[in-house]
Amino acid sequence: MTSTFYVSTPIFYVNGSPHIGHANTVVAADVVARWHRLDGREVFFLTGTDEHGQKVAQAAQAAGLEPQAFTDRVAAEFQAMMTLMGVSNDQFIRTTEPRHYAACQALWLRLQERGDIYLGQYEGWYSVRDEAFYAEDETALRPDGTRYAAASGAPVNWVVEPSYFFRLSAYADRLIAHYEALPDALLPSGRRSEVLSFLRGGVTDLSVSRTSFRWGIPVPKDPAHVMYVWLDALTNYLTAIGYPDVSSPLWRFWPADVHLVGKDILRFHAVIWPAILMAAGLPVPRMVFATGWWTVEGEKMSKSIGNVVAPATLVEKFGLDAVRFFLMREVPFGNDGDFSETALVRRLNTELANDLGNLAQRTLSQVAKNLGGVLPAAGVLTEDDATLLAAANALPAAMRTHMARLALGDAIEEAWRVIRAANSYIDRQAPWALRKTDPERMALVLRVLIDVIRPVATVLQPVMPDSMARMLDQVGVPESGRTLAALEFALPGGIVLPAPTGVFPRYVEVEA
Ligand code: ME8
Ligand code: MG
Repeated sequence: MTSTFYVSTPIFYVNGSPHIGHANTVVAADVVARWHRLDGREVFFLTGTDEHGQKVAQAAQAAGLEPQAFTDRVAAEFQAMMTLMGVSNDQFIRTTEPRHYAACQALWLRLQERGDIYLGQYEGWYSVRDEAFYAEDETALRPDGTRYAAASGAPVNWVVEPSYFFRLSAYADRLIAHYEALPDALLPSGRRSEVLSFLRGGVTDLSVSRTSFRWGIPVPKDPAHVMYVWLDALTNYLTAIGYPDVSSPLWRFWPADVHLVGKDILRFHAVIWPAILMAAGLPVPRMVFATGWWTVEGEKMSKSIGNVVAPATLVEKFGLDAVRFFLMREVPFGNDGDFSETALVRRLNTELANDLGNLAQRTLSQVAKNLGGVLPAAGVLTEDDATLLAAANALPAAMRTHMARLALGDAIEEAWRVIRAANSYIDRQAPWALRKTDPERMALVLRVLIDVIRPVATVLQPVMPDSMARMLDQVGVPESGRTLAALEFALPGGIVLPAPTGVFPRYVEVEA
């Protein structure tokens, strides 16, 4: 693991307002970014908007606006979503920025110099909704005779136009060798086999310019062409860190550690992007991770389809951290999940209000009531105490392993294993019954519990930054002591803890 860490989200098409699918992606990247900062790394976290191409141009036209005015408006909505979701991105890039034009044109010239871009003519299927070229055998016919992309269901049109091509076919063998040598370069592992079999099936050159519309970055020296929106979009990961100026201070973050992407855009990131980088003589990303979809009644939640849940509605109703927790916890990261408020309420009540909320509340109210809020000193541990503490202290290492493979759900589950063990420990030790008979033992049990809540709240900060900050306030951890490294040092006994307040409310459960 390097001491710098670069994580990115896809840049979002500004053809419609953000929904919880986008919120999910940015929160996941945020959890990853916050985790690595907590673990002492210098992090660069990038997100932004993808503003060119036919799909966005058509959405602008439908809204009765010039493309730039339209993209300004929708990009602002995505920026607002970052604030709403508590996202700690270092930059928000827009592909309509001048620096991005410069980066794309520099990259284009570099590929051309290397002989990997040549002029020809594209004849084939194109889907505006997917902004993708499809071979005939990747399409299918509906009963009414219209053709669509088999994988996405999006309509396709027959396109004939002069076009530049990128020599993608020349990189298939190197890509196969790359993924065979580095199994973790493409996760989850099921996706890796998918990409490998695609590569082994034979790869054709890629059309990388369009001439039938204008909303894009002009091709250098041939402005009748605009760059294919995906070539433009992928380059954002380089623009943000200063490309083509490799002496820029941010350039040290390259290659990216993780490109987080939806599974629908895996091929662009796992095939086209590394091939372009190889052609440009640049290192390829260390990992591409494909996330699943939030669906509504089984169908992908999508701006193009319109079946969306707005993040703001949920945050208003349940609070930010509860929503972040649900998105990260409900579905194994990488799988699809069907969105329902019933599942959300159940999850919040069981795991936040009951498991974690009660653990903190029961412990802290007894410290307040029976010890005058004074944190007891550590003492000689029983086996029961030591077993629980060992599990709590092992949390950072256990979670590190999962986080390295972006198994966010498994990482969170490690914390819940400790929380559940701590709750059964309280029941078993019944400190409230010791108040008169053995106050010293009671104090020690409460101290053990505080020493469990502290690492739990520390490792959960990336998922629920505000609530865990409040929990750490309540167990007396100074703001400067909230990193993984700080867990090596014990809290001094004798400090006075603030009066406990509940961190997680309960919600009324409704049946679906
Ligand atoms: O594909 N569930 O942009 P995009 C979960 N501009 N995640 C979802 C989702 C859902 N229902 N819908 C969208 C593009 N996402 C390109 C990317 S990158 C160089 C260019 C997430 O707005 C998912 O991560 O269609 C998807 O990849 C991303 O939003 C971008 O969607
Ligand atoms: Mg999409």
